[in-house]
Amino acid sequence: MKKIDFNLNGVLDNLAGLITAKAREKGLELRFNLASGLPVFLNGDPLRLGRILLNLANNAVKFTEKGEIEISISGLEIQPHKALLKFEVRDTGIGLSKGQQAKLFIPSTRQTPQPQDVTAVQAWAFQSAKI
Ligand SMILES: Nc1ncnc2c1ncn2[C@@H]1O[C@H](COP(=O)(O)OP(=O)(O)OP(=O)(O)O)[C@@H](O)[C@H]1O
Ligand SMILES: [Mg+2]
Repeated sequence: MKKIDFNLNGVLDNLAGLITAKAREKGLELRFNLASGLPVFLNGDPLRLGRILLNLANNAVKFTEKGEIEISISGLEIQPHKALLKFEVRDTGIGLSKGQQAKLFIPSTRQTPQPQDVTAVQAWAFQSAKI
């Protein structure tokens, strides 16, 4: 894990740049939903975060035939110098079982998947330092 200072908005802009066209080709609506007051100046591994989000977003596009994809980010724990952020990718596709969720790419122990009962939601918690 390589820790550097980064801006969360840069990671999200990148992601949008990589999936907007794919979503549009399939006629899917793509929405980003950021909680207010979310810290964006972070210290952590933006490449790893970007790769995780890209996989989850690509999954959503791949397994959804119509409707929408919503990428939501909220704070689970916001402290003066650290933040636990929750990333959720929800789609209106076929959904995934607990077993499939468990098999999703887990990049490191610092990014713990949040167990979800709801299908069609892929969620991650990302622990980061704030700058
Ligand atoms: N949004 C989703 N809707 C339905 N099923 C999903 C979704 N995301 C993942 N899955 C299921 O979980 C499996 C594992 O996902 P994972 O991203 O690890 O692999 P993949 O997308 O098939 O391959 P890769 O990511 O290497 O291109 C998928 O093959 C699919 O069966
Ligand atoms: Mg995938």
